[in-house]
Amino acid sequence: MALSLFTKTKKAIVDRASDDYATRMRLKYKPYYHAIESQQGTHIRLDGRDMVMLSSNDYLGLSFHPKVIEACGAAAKVWGTSPTGARISNGSRAYHVALEEKIATFLGREACHVSVAGYISCCSAVASFAQKGDIILADKNIHSCLVDATRLSMATVERFSHNNPEDLRQILKSLPHHTPKMLVVEGVYSMEGHICSLPELAQIGEDAGCFTVLDDAHGFGVLGRQGRGTVDHYKLNDKVDLICGSLSKSLASTGGFVAGSRTLIEYLRTNSKQTLFSAALSPSMAATASAALDVMQTEPQHLERLWRNTKRYREMLKGLGLDIWGSETPAIPIVLGSKELVYRFWNALLEKGVFTVMSIAPAVPPGKDLIRTAVSALHSDEDLEKIAAAMAYAVKQM
Ligand SMILES: Cc1ncc(COP(=O)(O)O)c(C=O)c1O
Repeated sequence: MALSLFTKTKKAIVDRASDDYATRMRLKYKPYYHAIESQQGTHIRLDGRDMVMLSSNDYLGLSFHPKVIEACGAAAKVWGTSPTGARISNGSRAYHVALEEKIATFLGREACHVSVAGYISCCSAVASFAQKGDIILADKNIHSCLVDATRLSMATVERFSHNNPEDLRQILKSLPHHTPKMLVVEGVYSMEGHICSLPELAQIGEDAGCFTVLDDAHGFGVLGRQGRGTVDHYKLNDKVDLICGSLSKSLASTGGFVAGSRTLIEYLRTNSKQTLFSAALSPSMAATASAALDVMQTEPQHLERLWRNTKRYREMLKGLGLDIWGSETPAIPIVLGSKELVYRFWNALLEKGVFTVMSIAPAVPPGKDLIRTAVSALHSDEDLEKIAAAMAYAVKQM
């Protein structure tokens, strides 16, 4: 009896997977999971054709920096390939502690904890601290890892409209005064390219006694002094309790971090399931992030070039009459409003040798279907000219 019950359940799940509309469409139109055959900086080879990458998160272009590559390879020779265990048990190494101290100092925080993914770090920054009975106030457009974290925490979740301090204020008015509250925002919203309205939001949060978590995956390396991020950009270090982020964007590695007071980071190390039950960051990825952070502080030309390219690229898109959703950062969407238009535009760019990524509802709000593009410090003038010609061509195909 029990066996037939299981068999039925299993079949239902297999049927659902084999009949999944989104998977069938993905396999038919092949918009995602392109296996790039080779890469050198912004230049990639795909299906035997040379293309310019225009959707990488390598904002500062450090993934091909000689010092960063050298550090990555050297670390494996010293430490082997993996710590093969969680930090709490056999996986802690001196290189973790050194990287954490370096990131904490850079951000003006007492302590930091690194993990194998930005997804895990950002998730633990929320889920280890909020609990059942608390209220989380979260921007409507937060990243999936933060949405998952709010669910894992079992707290009650209230979503305020994107980057809208007035909406946050109104929602807070209706909430019980003494319930512990957490405010969750991003420094730079990666789909929209918007910078968080942190001065207003953090003040409203502080007035309501909120604990504030800011995910700066896309602000780190891009905003603030030497790329210290969104909090530094606004000089609001005392208004944000935890900054979390990723090592996989400006730091040209993979992994993530959470930075805050020593008390908060030690609490996270005791309570974060994502930390307790997952293996630690590998030597090569830690060394890569560490070397990239050194380069960020000693070679200002990468950040300067990133912003020069950003301005030039943004003007180019505006000149073509494209809707860039008011992006203020190197992450610049091209909003087209329907999946059909997005697919045509994306295909036209591909035809002209420019690689971008489609993002369609529900990954973005309905009617905001877009092409996600991101400019890098590594894009040369010739790259930008090729991109301009491809954009003009794609516009004509609409
Ligand atoms: C805002 C935000 N937070 C967290 C992450 C997760 O970072 P990672 O890719 O390093 O896991 C991302 C990645 O896209 C992100 O955009």
